[in-house]
Amino acid sequence: MSNHDDVLARIESLLEDEDDWVSAMSTVACELHTSFEHFHWTGFYRTVKPNVLKIGPYQGGHGCLVIPFDKGICGAAARTGETQDVPDVHARSEHIACSSTTLSEVVVPIKNSSGQVVAVLDLDSDLPAAFSPEDVSFTEHLCQYLGAKYF
Ligand code: SME
Repeated sequence: MSNHDDVLARIESLLEDEDDWVSAMSTVACELHTSFEHFHWTGFYRTVKPNVLKIGPYQGGHGCLVIPFDKGICGAAARTGETQDVPDVHARSEHIACSSTTLSEVVVPIKNSSGQVVAVLDLDSDLPAAFSPEDVSFTEHLCQYLGAKYF
């Protein structure tokens, strides 16, 4: 099995009997951050009211607490409902630099059964173009699993 497969299997095992969303986000942030060396910030933002994201469980330096849907890469993922794969954050003028060292980022939306974005999973790296197509598809699969299990 690939490392992605191992990590997904471990997360599914850890969450098998877990019905609490905060506990699940905390566990996922920890497992991802400690399993992939190029993940330098790993965490969730939650939709707390229409068009507003607030920070959730994360690993890494402090992240900004509130992101409107019309701001940042996270806001773009929440607004469009589509994965944002950003190999060079400096190429996206709307990028919010919680850390000046971030060079690449992937943000994946998490949706409920009605297709509404209830959270996003944000991955930042201090390396340029750090996230492979396998990282992106793994993260999308994980977010689909989380959305179906908890919403
Ligand atoms: N870079 C994100 C903001 C969150 S901090 O990186 C943790 C964005 O542009 O939305």
